[in-house]
Amino acid sequence: MLKRILSGIQPSGKPHIGNYFGAMQQHIALQEIPDSEPLYFIADYHALTTVQDAATLRENVRGVALDYLALGLKPEKSTFFRQSDVPEVQELAWLLAVVTGMGLLERAHSYKDKIAKNIKSSVGLFYYPVLMAADILIYKSNLVPVGQDQVQHIEMCQDMAGHFNQTFKTNIFVRPEARLSATPKVPGTDGEKMSKSYGNTIELQSDEKELKKVIMSIKTDSTPVDQPKNPDTDSIFALYSLFAAEEEKAALAVRYRAGGMGYGDAKKLLLEKVVAYFAPYRKKRAELAAQPEYVEKVLQEGAARARPIARRTLDEAKKACGLI
Ligand code: ADP
Ligand code: TRP
Repeated sequence: MLKRILSGIQPSGKPHIGNYFGAMQQHIALQEIPDSEPLYFIADYHALTTVQDAATLRENVRGVALDYLALGLKPEKSTFFRQSDVPEVQELAWLLAVVTGMGLLERAHSYKDKIAKNIKSSVGLFYYPVLMAADILIYKSNLVPVGQDQVQHIEMCQDMAGHFNQTFKTNIFVRPEARLSATPKVPGTDGEKMSKSYGNTIELQSDEKELKKVIMSIKTDSTPVDQPKNPDTDSIFALYSLFAAEEEKAALAVRYRAGGMGYGDAKKLLLEKVVAYFAPYRKKRAELAAQPEYVEKVLQEGAARARPIARRTLDEAKKACGLI
């Protein structure tokens, strides 16, 4: 049976290697799975909870589109679109909201974290998981590839699907499952989870000079150069492991444990890897940036494919609850 794969990414800033190794890399790889139908969208409605300036939002949306295409998203394989070009999702979100208990949303870690980080609390921010559930359910998605921090939202979506089906005595909604990458929680330059909102990111778009500055600033412990170091607790090693082959990883681990190597040397090795890995992406991105009509055409064609699927599910849901 055809497996529908769906994920969204918020245009809330520049993507970093956490987004890449947690989410974007799997999105691109999953295009190649036989019998799958991937749908990826730019979650602009969601980004409005934090980006509240029209020019910035437009620029960010354009940026995410360029990023995905430059990283290898193939429009002939994946349906790629802007969330707001399928407004049906908002109507479905309401139908889910009426069967969603306050308690379910009150337990959301991401809401609590955002409030703790002084992001302005709003009804939209609280309602965010309902809209996310509508995104997933409207396409009857089977698999949702995301990083660790989104898993709770997918569990909430499973609950909402169950509540809706049970309340309205239907089986319209399919139970979606999260799919994690091998590295669902990439550490940032301070050792915490890498995140745009923590200021600890290594951005994909950075050139060598910017990368050098950021990588050299990675926090380390104060073990002296001559002493042995533990690769398993060090973020430089964790980041290097994302790029290196098994033999390279093993070789660096030996140097850590032997002592005599400073963290500065490990940072240089990491820098080389990051620069080389993302060079083709940066080149492709610059080429695509010169073709704005092409990028817009891809998004519009994607929306034209996604919208009929969404319309069909919404009509089924409206019928189930007595609105049609
Ligand atoms: P951010 O926390 O930087 O704002 P987003 O919320 O935009 O990131 O996340 C986009 C995608 O990237 C999500 O699927 C999320 O789970 C994943 N992701 C974000 N940060 C990381 C990380 N440090 N490690 C792994 N995956 C991540
Ligand atoms: N909340 C997700 C994030 O911050 C983005 C998102 C919105 C999403 N709707 C989605 C992810 C549906 C997967 C499925 O990363």
